[in-house]
Amino acid sequence: MHEFTFKDNELYCEDIKISTIAKKFPTPFYLYSYKTLIDHYRKLKTAFSAISPLICFSVKSNSNIAMLRALVKNGAGLDIVSGGELYRARLAGADPKKIVYAGVGKRPDEIMDAIKFGILFFNVESEEELETIQNIAASLKKRVNIAIRINPDVVPKTHSHIATGKGDSKFGLDFETVHKIFNSQWRYPDLKIRGVHIHIGSQIVDADPFEEAIRKVLDFLKKYNIEVDHFNIGGGLGIIYSIENPQTAKNFAKRILPILKKTRLKIILEPGRFISGNSGILVTKVLYTKITPRNTFVIVDGGMSELIRPSLYTAYHKIVPVKVAQDSSQTCDKVDIVGPICESGDFLGKDRLLPMMHKGDLLAVMGAGAYGFAMSSNYNSRPRAAEVMVINSKVHIIRRQEDYADLVRGESIPKELK
Ligand code: LLP
Repeated sequence: MHEFTFKDNELYCEDIKISTIAKKFPTPFYLYSYKTLIDHYRKLKTAFSAISPLICFSVKSNSNIAMLRALVKNGAGLDIVSGGELYRARLAGADPKKIVYAGVGKRPDEIMDAIKFGILFFNVESEEELETIQNIAASLKKRVNIAIRINPDVVPKTHSHIATGKGDSKFGLDFETVHKIFNSQWRYPDLKIRGVHIHIGSQIVDADPFEEAIRKVLDFLKKYNIEVDHFNIGGGLGIIYSIENPQTAKNFAKRILPILKKTRLKIILEPGRFISGNSGILVTKVLYTKITPRNTFVIVDGGMSELIRPSLYTAYHKIVPVKVAQDSSQTCDKVDIVGPICESGDFLGKDRLLPMMHKGDLLAVMGAGAYGFAMSSNYNSRPRAAEVMVINSKVHIIRRQEDYADLVRGESIPKELK
């Protein structure tokens, strides 16, 4: 459920007309509902309340500091993957003891900053990384908490680009290597291996692969008598973009809680999309329509620079007019909704049934709160979009639209060229 709903043929964000918001901010812009964001966080928290897990929101899905602040204020921790995300986490006032840090390529300077900030764990993904963290911990004379990311070799049914728990992926370590690490902890005197971590992929709609991965890890810990106190079961919960029928937080908990309850481990979850995905939309305006012998194109002012998911993963995002014409007998056409970028792969939706669109009409691209703005770019020298959030019937700008000066910030022309 989300708070983008139609009333009298007009799309609202909570109780505010989106057409009214669009008069204040230039399109394209991202629009978030605070209520939807927090509702999703709470849904998960409630579903798992029997074991009071730490829920670390995955910053990569939406890293705007206002979004992070909203979640942090409501008790969330954060899952980060870079020094930049650590910087954002600090600005959002995150509790260091609720931050976990994953990623296969952490740089020494990033590791050093995170240790100094006092994060809960690094989710370590290779032996060389362990050695690096050990050396930095020794130089700082700090004891550093570690969780080992295990690659459980399970096959989640999702797009190959977002499957991470298969044996051939770059993420995590195989059971044998993890066993070896636990047997050679003396090599890491300044590290305390306190947990294990998995993250098997993203947009996973069914609980089977989660259950399989969790069981594999617990069996492994038992078999080798490995003692840790934390188990981070990752993120990856799927949401509805089109016809998916993903497990609800409640059903997911029903499936895996009985297994987790049998352990004494403190459980960490690190969902991104489940919390942020449906909390945001992209609002874009029709620039032109064009009918060719083969297709009808609706050309809008937002494209792959704002939302790359359709181009990159052929991801489906529902697209709806912000105002539906009163005349319901209006016929719908099959159209391609495309952006202004000079790439044939620049589309937001193909073969969509839409009523006749006109210049200036607004369209809403739904389910764009996760991996939307976060993956946007300046391609074709397009200033990045504004981000706007509705909180308690008030509209707040949480990132202004970039201008042309932002585009060239940091660039310079060498003297020789002047
Ligand atoms: N934890 C780790 C270690 C991750 O790598 C990720 C996402 C998450 C948690 C959160 O996953 P989520 O709950 O959001 O599924 N750009 C792609 C998704 C890439 C996911 C990367 N890792 C997309 O637009 O679908």
